[in-house]
Amino acid sequence: MLKSLLRVKPVEPAGHVDAGEPIEGSLDGEATLKRTLTARHLVLLGMGAVIGAGIFVVTGQAAANHAGPAIMLSFVLAGLACAFAGLCYAEFAAMLPVSGSAYSYAYATLGEGMAWFIGWCLVLEYLFASSSVAVGWSAYMISFLTTTLHLPFPDALTAAPILWQDGEFISSGKLFNLPAVLIVLAIAGLLYVGVTQSSFVNAIIVAIKVTVICLFVGFGAMYVDPANWTPFIPENTGTFGEFGWSGVLRAASIVFFAYIGFDAVSTAAGETKDPQRNMPIGLLGSLAVCTLIYIVVCAVMTGLMSYTSLGTDKPVATALQAYAQLGWLKTWVEIGAIAGLSSVILVMMMGQTRVAYTISRDGLLPPVFGRVHPKFRTPHLSTIVVGLIAATLAGLVPLSVLGELVAMGTLLAFAAVCIGVLVLRRTRPDMHRAFRVPAVWFVAPAGALICLGLFAMAFADHWQVFVLWTLLGLVIYFGYGIRHSRLARGA
Ligand code: ALA
Repeated sequence: MLKSLLRVKPVEPAGHVDAGEPIEGSLDGEATLKRTLTARHLVLLGMGAVIGAGIFVVTGQAAANHAGPAIMLSFVLAGLACAFAGLCYAEFAAMLPVSGSAYSYAYATLGEGMAWFIGWCLVLEYLFASSSVAVGWSAYMISFLTTTLHLPFPDALTAAPILWQDGEFISSGKLFNLPAVLIVLAIAGLLYVGVTQSSFVNAIIVAIKVTVICLFVGFGAMYVDPANWTPFIPENTGTFGEFGWSGVLRAASIVFFAYIGFDAVSTAAGETKDPQRNMPIGLLGSLAVCTLIYIVVCAVMTGLMSYTSLGTDKPVATALQAYAQLGWLKTWVEIGAIAGLSSVILVMMMGQTRVAYTISRDGLLPPVFGRVHPKFRTPHLSTIVVGLIAATLAGLVPLSVLGELVAMGTLLAFAAVCIGVLVLRRTRPDMHRAFRVPAVWFVAPAGALICLGLFAMAFADHWQVFVLWTLLGLVIYFGYGIRHSRLARGA
């Protein structure tokens, strides 16, 4: 059994891969994914996945309760942790341009058992992020329909039937979250039809949200009162994490959520032209642009209004209330948020179907996930299954329970990628690396340590759910994967 868990998938240098070439080998003459995406598509996919609930929802509480105006520093810190992991992703994605992301990198370095576990963590990241962001999308949409457009909406269809409160589930009195279900199904339909169409829609959505952010920054900056930035780091209240430097750190662990998703770019490696060049640009470019946007938005937000008043679920819109002259922007910010959250769902769900595709091609999941539509060249059956599961979760499970798991899965995947880069530098120093992590013996261990540290903080609070999730993964691996693995069958 130990041998099975430790077997490593051999990696061969990908050579130059260009448009139209298949990737993970065509099984039995079946269709494979199509290489159509360029560096520009990838940067837009990254921005599509990253800018969403993190900035439009989570930032307010983090500033009001933990960091004050120094939330800007928290974004710098969280961005730095992601940059370390992002550099390691870039080295792998250029060298191994397949759709499995961290799962494939772990398979090539840490063995099948670890690869399965990381793949299972990626389900937490991609599947659960799409469902939890769909619940956030629903809240924004319902508020837009009812308060901005003054349209009626049945209350019973606005939330999951259960709530998680004080450590137990209670009835919410609602039936299910209809808008959340509808948006997930609509996006699954789009992903079914094609990656080109999906990335086109993503590009439009990203254009909308970035325009809205530019409007907010451009007009908001004219009304910034620098007095709101003092004290920059409010004095600690005496409790760890409530302002002061510990508050900046605590807020960094919260706003880490805002960066989740840049790694989803690597799941498109199998559909990218010239991935050796384009993958590092897509991963690091989107991360850099998003970091810059986040810091500027936070500067304007905390400059418009005292951080003490920003602790709402719509902090960007709340900040505008400081000046009547900016009132007109509120509707635009709502539209930007709705657009922003839609593309997060789109790219996250796309990532999930691609990871499942690769795992299935390796034999660790049933073949249904690895089938490719002969005309659309998308993993169509995987898209249907993932879409139905994501829609069910979004409709029936409360947001808080889903959201907690997303960061944990992501952090472990990041740590595995950082460690994997070092392992491969040792085991295959000869391989051609189109992109090399600079100062790898500092960057990779630092990335792994920061991610494992943040994971430990989250695990201490929610270890039960995570342990349950891991056990479920073990049951599937030992019940199916270990026997069907292509490596086990000598394929
Ligand atoms: N980074 C994504 C968001 O903020 C998950 O919504």
